Amino acid sequence: MSTAVDVTTYREEFPLTNTWSYLNHAAWGPFPTRTIEAVQEYAASWGSPPDVPGDYGANVIQEVKEGVAELAGGKADNVAFVSSLAEGMNLLGNGLDWQAGDNVLIPRHEFPSVVYPFLNLQRKGVEVRFIEKNDEGRTDLGRFEAAMDDKTRAVAISHIEWADGYRNDLKKLGDICRARDIELFADCTQSLGIHPINLEETGVTAAAAHGYKWLLSSFGNAVVVFNEGAVERIYPTYVGRLSVDANDEDHNWQLNLRTTAQRYQTGGQNIMSLTAMRASLTMLREATTEAMTAQTIKLTDQLAQGLESSGYQVISDRSPEHRSQIVTFSTGDRERNAALIGELEERKISVALRGGCVRVSPFFYNNEEDVETLLEALPPL
Ligand SMILES: Cc1ncc(COP(=O)(O)O)c(C=O)c1O
Repeated sequence: MSTAVDVTTYREEFPLTNTWSYLNHAAWGPFPTRTIEAVQEYAASWGSPPDVPGDYGANVIQEVKEGVAELAGGKADNVAFVSSLAEGMNLLGNGLDWQAGDNVLIPRHEFPSVVYPFLNLQRKGVEVRFIEKNDEGRTDLGRFEAAMDDKTRAVAISHIEWADGYRNDLKKLGDICRARDIELFADCTQSLGIHPINLEETGVTAAAAHGYKWLLSSFGNAVVVFNEGAVERIYPTYVGRLSVDANDEDHNWQLNLRTTAQRYQTGGQNIMSLTAMRASLTMLREATTEAMTAQTIKLTDQLAQGLESSGYQVISDRSPEHRSQIVTFSTGDRERNAALIGELEERKISVALRGGCVRVSPFFYNNEEDVETLLEALPPL
């Protein structure tokens, strides 16, 4: 398989490249033109529902499941849709049969959507154990292992971390968890779509991701991809007519839960947003995650070198085991970093302030010129 992306072909599908050096995909992933057109077409068709083909929704759902499963290295039948990453974590956390005194391990500086769903389990007597970073300021799997005991039921963690893009080794953590019958819930919002994930080769119970970043699908549609066998272990807290093997006319009222991840769906689904996700997935699958990763690593290497040669501090871990498409850097002064975001925005360069540092997150259609524009705009230190 080729690892070279034809950047210029895809670049034409992103109108914002005419105006912006957009290097902020860890915040929002823009719609490509094919997605804008698909959503417009669906919106127009919904002006007359009888004219929408009867199987339109079912086809969209099936194709999105297949696309997401391919990106996650899982199976289409194991994909469920939720409205946010937090809802996905709630689905997972509430699906376990917790006993008072059980505990869950979470990195201290995790994204809030991973943390609050588990804090909400404290009323059931669940202890949330926060794991501190190591002296280098990195997530350290050895610290997780050391914190596990026979009451540890779950670990919740991001694959690629939101603040500095540190990539955790899900295979290694999954092996540690599986050996102890601990469920591993991974937030893949910053990785699904851009970094290859082989769910079935890991001990991850389920990978969840919101669609508005690397899946180029806007807000309100997140996915939970279960590993083989996990659907039987995570009980659905919410159920509805779509969860069961029955039709709407069947009033025998048996709770025959579906055997697939369909059991987590309650009622009518967000077909508008799934239409966007389906269109964007066609592009991501064409381009391939391997090729996209190669392109973003090339661009972030260029960035890191340029930053270092002009005296900026690269905060992110750039080792091959932990680097990602997200690079955070600093002037050495948090206030100066914050001011820099606005200065760059005035020059039509979009990046973000995270953890008091400047976060840069290119995608596969970005080119060397985008990175060069940013480097040239940085004031000398
Ligand atoms: C790692 C990570 N997880 C999740 C989210 C979004 O969470 P939610 O879907 O609950 O709004 C973000 C958004 O920045 C994120 O960076």
